[in-house]
Formats: sequence, structure tokens, C-alpha cells
Amino acid sequence: MKSLEKLFAMAPEFTIPPMVTNFFTSTLNTNEKRAMVIAAVALIFAWFAAILYRNVVTSLARSYVPFMARLLAPILRSYSYDEEEFFKADGADLSTQKKRKAGFRKLASSFNRKYVKSREAMGKGLSDLRFTNTNRVPFPFQKIVQDTLKVGSLVVSTNGPEVQDVDGNWAIDLSGSYGVNVAGNEMYKKWMGNGCHKTADLGPVLGPLHPVVIENVKMLQEITGLDEVSFHMSGTEAVMCAIRLARFNRKRRKIVQFNGAYHGWWDGVQPGPGNERSVPDVITLKDMNPLSLATIRARGAELAAVIVNPFQAFHPNSPPPSDLVLMSNKARKTDAGISALNHPYAVWLRKLREACDENDVPLIFDEVYSGFRLSRGGGAAYFGVKPDMIVYGKTLGGGMPVGVVCGKEKLMRRFDPLHPLRVAYVIGTFSAHPSVMGSMNEFLQWVTTPESQKIYEDGQRSFDEFAASTNEALALAGMPLKITNLATVFTFEFTCPSRYHWMFQYYLRDQGVNLAWVGTGRCIVSLDFTKEHYKKLQDRIMAAAKRMAADGFWSAEIVSSNARQAARMAKELAFHSAIMPFKSFYDKVMEQKEIDHHASHSHLINQFLHFISSSIFIWCYVEVMVSKTGDWSWPVELGLISLLVRQAGHYVFEPPCHDAEQAMLGFDTRAKVKICLLYGGVFSAFLGRWMARQSGYETAVRLTDVWLLATLLIVFGRVAVLWRRYSFAVSMHWWLKFMTDPFTDLPAYWRSCYQVFSPRLLKDAFAKSFPKWFPNHVPIPIEDLGNGWGVDHAKAH
Ligand SMILES: Cc1ncc(COP(=O)(O)O)c(C=O)c1O
Repeated sequence: MKSLEKLFAMAPEFTIPPMVTNFFTSTLNTNEKRAMVIAAVALIFAWFAAILYRNVVTSLARSYVPFMARLLAPILRSYSYDEEEFFKADGADLSTQKKRKAGFRKLASSFNRKYVKSREAMGKGLSDLRFTNTNRVPFPFQKIVQDTLKVGSLVVSTNGPEVQDVDGNWAIDLSGSYGVNVAGNEMYKKWMGNGCHKTADLGPVLGPLHPVVIENVKMLQEITGLDEVSFHMSGTEAVMCAIRLARFNRKRRKIVQFNGAYHGWWDGVQPGPGNERSVPDVITLKDMNPLSLATIRARGAELAAVIVNPFQAFHPNSPPPSDLVLMSNKARKTDAGISALNHPYAVWLRKLREACDENDVPLIFDEVYSGFRLSRGGGAAYFGVKPDMIVYGKTLGGGMPVGVVCGKEKLMRRFDPLHPLRVAYVIGTFSAHPSVMGSMNEFLQWVTTPESQKIYEDGQRSFDEFAASTNEALALAGMPLKITNLATVFTFEFTCPSRYHWMFQYYLRDQGVNLAWVGTGRCIVSLDFTKEHYKKLQDRIMAAAKRMAADGFWSAEIVSSNARQAARMAKELAFHSAIMPFKSFYDKVMEQKEIDHHASHSHLINQFLHFISSSIFIWCYVEVMVSKTGDWSWPVELGLISLLVRQAGHYVFEPPCHDAEQAMLGFDTRAKVKICLLYGGVFSAFLGRWMARQSGYETAVRLTDVWLLATLLIVFGRVAVLWRRYSFAVSMHWWLKFMTDPFTDLPAYWRSCYQVFSPRLLKDAFAKSFPKWFPNHVPIPIEDLGNGWGVDHAKAH
């Protein structure tokens, strides 16, 4: 205690509370001390309990989809059905398969007729197109669909909601230009033209602003009720800006987002499917789950913001059900047709707002998709909830590329008044580009008129009528699908399980309906659809559905339940992911052996020497395995001799062709020279030991140990080099090939054992290695050296 007092005395500027000094200097009585210890323990316990509660609640509210997606992505193996499997993926009988085949062929020939120019012109080179074309259908079907059902994607003009491709085909457009087209193509054409015209005198000047920018800011302030606006080039960029500013101004890192919600392609908001990077500063919680609210409350102090995509109202906890995942009727759980303010999602958003308010956590609405789509005031007005920041994009540009962030002043600040070096450098060359601002101005002027309000209301009413009458017609015809919608966005919901729902997009296309690449999962109508358009669309939907049913792709009796179908798919996936990798590993090793043969093992004498050396090696392996004494010196020495025999074959008769190895294997074995030098060194040591013995000296070191060590070092050194330079798999292919070469050499080169006794073949072999000694030799024509290893020389001539 004395030393403690001394310590306290050394820090006179701190006044230590007498309770503490008393505690240590024992002026407190025992009961007081006990009370203090109990209080401290209780405090520590409460602290631990709070941490435990926070972690338990987060684990229960967290969505494990991102984690599982990252875990499974490298494990699950892709595979393709062949022609036969393609039509019986659900175990269909022969007659159904035939019907399907015929239907599929008919579709293919129709596509071939329709998309001649489009297909030819597209060629290759556009990676976006390669991605979307591949990901239209579930992967086992992709190859055949890609080879057969070639969809043309080159379009040249629009007329209202109809779009014309380069081949002159017109189709009703349900793609909605990824959500940009709210008001109708003709309006955007006008706004884009007017917008450019309005700002034409300014040209490309950036930095100083055109006055339309100020008008736009004012209109956006009015619409959102928020203080400041910032302009960007895309929705993704605007989301990045909003999150960065929230982090900067809240001085916190963690963001909460909800499972299934799309916020653009920035990997900072894609913690799951589509992104291989783990994103530790994003917590993905379950949508519409009370535990998520509890998590926000428990972690409020750590959170920079909560970001919501109001379109999740349509299918909470899952992304838009693209045709890629369409296998069962479970993939389409939607929450449709409920009026906005009573929508369960509106209730959820209100609770979310409360949880955020209680903890001073900013709530960001990502309205890139829902903005000006769900209503004029976007999701915020539709669900009656006011966020702290709103991100816009798509339609707000009036047809031009745009991203916009609106927010409260304290959240939009990009500098710290107290710390001049703390700056959030968020700024882009093309933000507030005059032409974009011009067309945005046109759009905003239209959207704030009373007429546009009426257009929104009428458009919604017409769509609701269309959806109701189409569903009635589909039900009457006994078709296993229906339409569900949120505002003017809809999805086809399938009512029976089938492995072939994704085929519906192709039937629709063939009937003249244009879809986005996610296919029937997300369709959009614009507000310029007239009664005639809806009638046409309904007829085409009915025709497509009837054709698909007649072609046997919805044979309900085949797959009776989602569970049976899931079990079937799980079996396939397990086979391809767990069994096939071994087979492909084996194939790869055998392929390397074959390549190695062609690169440097096609010479008769070299093959013969390999046969001898491999036989000795096998004997050595056996000897090592059965050895009871553990003394491996004899097999190891023999191994060295056999290796020298082997390498002599290469050095004297057939040097390895490194260029061929490089070309065929992707790597060469040039290092073999160094390796052999090392072996030569060990061999010299053997000689040295023998000579020393002859002179009456005994060496202390067991040379076999040195040699074995050198071998292990070299082999595993090579494994390490291949692993570092290429991949673990390549290093293992090489290692397994190396270890098993003696076994595969025997069946491959056994013929050489008698062929070396043929004077003609022998002469030919020598002539090949030493052409100078045989100037007039005519080589035996070996036609089929490429027929794999173990070439039969006798047969070849
Ligand atoms: C809600 C949402 N946020 C962000 C984005 C990304 O926008 P962009 O494609 O313009 O980068 C999208 C795009 O679909 C979206 O729907």
C-alpha cells in the first residue's frame, strides 16, 4: 500500500476520489468494501451481458445468405445437361420428352428466322452481353439454350411501348429499360432532345453550373423535403456517395442493409451473391423482422446508417426472382396488391424509422428503382415514411444517365469544420453535366404538374385492370401462373413446381414481348400503355402460356412437389460438386502425363530406359512400405540409380522440349537441369564415400539421408513454386503425376522392351538422336505419334 500511496503522490495534478484512496488505504470498513466489490462485479457482469445480448440478437437477426453464398460459390460446380438430360431434368416420361423436344426445336427455328441480322451483327466482344446471355437460365440448361435459342438484342427504334429490332420485329417492351422508363419512351425522347437543346449554348462546360441545375435542386428540395442535393452519373455511384457521407458525418463505419435488397454493383453493398469479397462493415439483417429492430437498437452507437430499398416491399428478403433461379413455385413469394399505407412493409418502415430515431442513426432510402415509380414522391411518399437521405437514379435523368443524393445538411457535409484535414472527397467530373441536367429539368417539370399526378393514377388503374383480367383468363385456361404487381412493376408467379419455368421467357419473346435479362422475374410497364397495348399484351401472354403448356414443360404430374424437385437437384449438385472434382483432378493428371509423353517421351530408347527405371522405382516403393527395420538406405540408393538411368534417357536420347511443355502444360520443367545437377552432386558424394573407404576412411554422414533430403526438398520445393506461380490445384496435379509416373510408365512403355531388339527401330532411334552419324537415314514415318503415350513403334512403321 505504501508504494501505491507513493504512486498517487507522484501524480499531484490528479485528485483521486477519497473513496478510492480510502478503499486501498483500508479506511473503509469491510461492509463498505464488500459493497464496492459487488457493485464492480455487477457492472462488469452488466457489461458482459450487454455484449452478449447484442451479439445474440445480431446473430438471430442476421441473414446468413451472404455468408453461405460466399462459402458455396467456389464449392458448387457447374455442369451442363446433354440433349437427352435437358428434356428430362424432372424425370419426364418419353412422350413428354418428345413433346418438349419438338416444341424447343420449333422455338429455335422461329428464332433463327426472326433474328438473322441481329445475331450476325452482334458477334462477340461485349462482356455485358455475354454475362446477361449466360445468366438468363439455370446453369445446367445454359449451354444448350445458348447454342440453340439465340436471342437478338440489337434494337433500333421505339414507338410508344413497342420496340423494333434490326430485323424489323416489333415487340411490346416489358423491360422498362431497367426501370428508367416510367412515363413512356416518347416522353423521354422529347425530354432528351429538349434537355440537350436547353443547354446547347453552354456545350461541355463543367465546374461552373448551368442555371437549370439550380432549378433542379429547388424542385428536388421541394419533392423530398431534404436540405441538399448532390449529382452523380449512376445509381451505384450515388449509393457510394450516400454511404460514404453517412460514415464520414456519423464517424461510424458499420452499415445495416437488408437481405435481398439490391443497391447497385459496388461490392461495398453486395455482401453476398455476386461479390467474392467479404464486407465486414456491412451487417445484413432480415427484412421485416422484429429482431432486426432490436439489433439496430442494440448496436445504434456503432452504426453509420441503415439503408433500405423500398422495392423490397414486393418480395422481402429476396432479390427479384430472375429466371436464373426459377425452379420451383417457391421462388416467387410476393406481397402484392395491398394498398400502400396499410402495406405490411409500410408498417415495417415506420418501425424502422422509430428504431433509427431512438438511436440517432440516419435512415437512407435507396429509391434508384422506386423513385418516381411507386408514386411521384417515390417509396417515401408511397409508404408515408420520411428518410434522412434519399438516393435517386434511373428515371430522374429524363432518359440520361444519372445518380442523385438528397439529404439533411448535417449528413451531406464533406468537410469537418474542426479538422481541416478531415475531408470526404466525393466529387466527379461529370456530375451535373449540362445535357443531363437539361433533361432532368424537363422530367422534374413534368412530374411536378397536376396532369402528371392524374397520369400516374390512371396508369395504375389501367394496370390493375389488366392484371386482374389476365389472371382471370390464365385461371380459366388452367395455366399455372398469375401476375402479381407493386405499382407498375410485376412478376409472373408460377403456381406449380417445374424445372422449366424459365422457358416461359422464350415463349413470350417468340410471341413478341421484350423482357429484361432477368426475364419474367421483373417486368415493367410504362404509363403510356393504352387499352390496345394491354389487350395485345394479354393475348401474347395467353398464347405463350398455352404453347408452353402444350409443349409439356408444365406437366404437373411429373414433379409432384417442390421437395421432390429440390431433392433431385440436391443429388445432382452433390454429385457434380463432390464426385466430379475427383474425376476432373484425375483427368487433369492423366492429361499432364499425356502431354509430358508427347513433349519428351516418344523416343524408343528413352521409353525403354523409363521402363527400367520405373520398375526399379516401384520395387523401391514396395521395399520402403514393407521395411520392418526402417532402414531405407538400400531402396533410396537404388532410387538414385534408377533416376540416373531415367535422366540419361533424356540427356543422351531425347532432351525435353520445354517450348512444347510450356505450350501444352502452361509451365515447363526447365528447373530439371538444376535438379539433376543437385542429384549429380549427391552421386559424387557417393563416389567420394567409396573412394574414402578404399583409402581406409569411414564417412560419418549417411549419404542416403542426404539424398533423400535433397529429393524431398526438390519435390516439395517444386510443389511450392507451382502453387505460388499458378495455383494449388496445378501443384497437386504435378505432384500426383510425379508420384504415379512409375506406375503409368509400365503399361505405357512395355512395348519398348521388345522393340529395342529390332535393329531397324534401334537404328531409327539412334538416327533420330544423332542425325550427324546417319546422314542418309530415312526416318520411319510414324503417322500417329499423337495417339497417346505408349506408341507402338513396330505398328507405326
Ligand atoms: C435500388 C437500386 N439501387 C441502385 C441501383 C444501381 O443503379 P445503376 O445501375 O444506375 O448503377 C439499382 C439498379 O438497378 C437499384 O435498383
